[in-house]
Amino acid sequence: MKTLKVVALATVVGLAGVSAIWAQGDHEDGVKTTRLLMPIMNADRGMELFASKGCATCHSVNDVGGEDASPLDAHKMDEYMNPFDHAAKMWLMAPYMIAAQEDELGEQILFTGDELSNIIAFLHDDAQQLLFTEEYLESIAGEETDG
Ligand code: HEC
Repeated sequence: MKTLKVVALATVVGLAGVSAIWAQGDHEDGVKTTRLLMPIMNADRGMELFASKGCATCHSVNDVGGEDASPLDAHKMDEYMNPFDHAAKMWLMAPYMIAAQEDELGEQILFTGDELSNIIAFLHDDAQQLLFTEEYLESIAGEETDG
């Protein structure tokens, strides 16, 4: 069976703005046979997206945000989590979430893989979540209104 190994290429990761690293098939000849890039997850960007995408309309973090759906505090979830399991949990709840989003926001929230990876990083980072305050949420909402 083929296992996936994340290979951090220093030259690639070292470049500014790079947000993904190669996932390489575990082959003896070292040839990249698996056509996958693993995102470099960023909890700080994820916090901004959690606010700007509207997740906080229904979900709270650090007691800040809506109460229509379950709180998403890192310490209330599994101690360590595979990010794909987090995505799978969202997929499981998708029918309820999309219905609620269409009801409350008028449309389904969409995101790229990169954006989702950053949101998931935020949802599993205790230290970053302490920075999620009412003032912060309002400042992001203010930016949106300002255009
Ligand atoms: C309009 C309301 C609404 C919005 C906006 C919303 N959700 Fe949800 N979400 C729900 C509902 C309803 C559920 C299913 C019931 C529950 O877990 O409370 C859910 C479930 C989840 C779950 C699974 C929780 C669990 O413990 O099983 C995750 C994770 C989640 N949402 C993340 C997000 C993220 C990330 C965003 C923003 C991109 C988002 N949600 C935006 C309503 C919403």
